[in-house]
Amino acid sequence: MTLDLDLQATRDGTVSRRGESLALVARGVCKSFRGAKTVRAVDDVSLSVRRGEIYGLLGANGSGKSTLIRMFSTLLEADSGEVRVFGHDIVADELAVKRLINRVSVEASFFKKLSAMENLVYAGRLYGQSGPDADARGRKILERLGIGADRVDEPLDKLSRGMQQKVAIARAFLTSPMLLLLDEPTTGLDIRSKREVQTFVRDLRDGHDATILLTTHDLDEAERLADRIGVLHRGRLVAEGSGEQLRARFGGNDLESVFMTITGRRIEEAANEATEAASA
Ligand SMILES: Nc1ncnc2c1ncn2[C@@H]1O[C@H](COP(=O)(O)OP(=O)(O)OP(=O)(O)O)[C@@H](O)[C@H]1O
Ligand SMILES: [Mg+2]
Repeated sequence: MTLDLDLQATRDGTVSRRGESLALVARGVCKSFRGAKTVRAVDDVSLSVRRGEIYGLLGANGSGKSTLIRMFSTLLEADSGEVRVFGHDIVADELAVKRLINRVSVEASFFKKLSAMENLVYAGRLYGQSGPDADARGRKILERLGIGADRVDEPLDKLSRGMQQKVAIARAFLTSPMLLLLDEPTTGLDIRSKREVQTFVRDLRDGHDATILLTTHDLDEAERLADRIGVLHRGRLVAEGSGEQLRARFGGNDLESVFMTITGRRIEEAANEATEAASA
């Protein structure tokens, strides 16, 4: 499959449409998991994320958010379709893409006996930073995420799950990726930590020329953070727009009622159903 003709590669390798720079372009992406029963996890998804944008993928449990993010980050191969990151095809040009992106998921892996700082410095050095540079940068990032200087040298397995999640976000940003893929960055965090992470994400975009694609099932967060929201429902992208546009189009006062109109049921019901199906 080829890209639409209105998408043309520019000389620096980015893809522009009507003069605007696109960080990510997905066209007709599909992924099924074959088992006793075949699951169409991602079903013909096409979307674009502009450079400097925060794009929120909103969907209930099992709607395909993580599968999509894993394909975008080259961890998982799509069955069909095409994905480009700053103009680079993620299959043909995997190495270039890996240099431009970083992904954070809730199940991030660490050296649990090492401290937050040791983990960050290790990651920084892998990416060619000097120890002192990675150290200084890491401390600053952790502080902005609300992890006090008194905790950064403790073994990670002594930190709460929420704190570990923040360390994962810090580590992903340490290497200054152009495109940051955050799979549920705030799930399980308390309200204050949620706000700290949300502010950090917004600062990344505003001050560091970063583009962010994040997933959430938190409608409030999607509205608060994302310039544009894509609603995933059973693997399909069923609506897309700013919170305001979605509300205007689907006639709800809040995103919750918009989601209900689009998907025909409440996000909690869909989530419960998915949980029940998973435990059956
Ligand atoms: N490795 C896998 N093998 C088989 N099925 C899978 C696999 N990964 C995901 N699935 C299925 O694909 C569908 C989409 O899952 P996915 O994890 O992408 O959803 P999600 O939107 O991220 O959900 P959540 O909000 O719970 O994280 C689900 O039905 C899930 O069971
Ligand atoms: Mg997920």
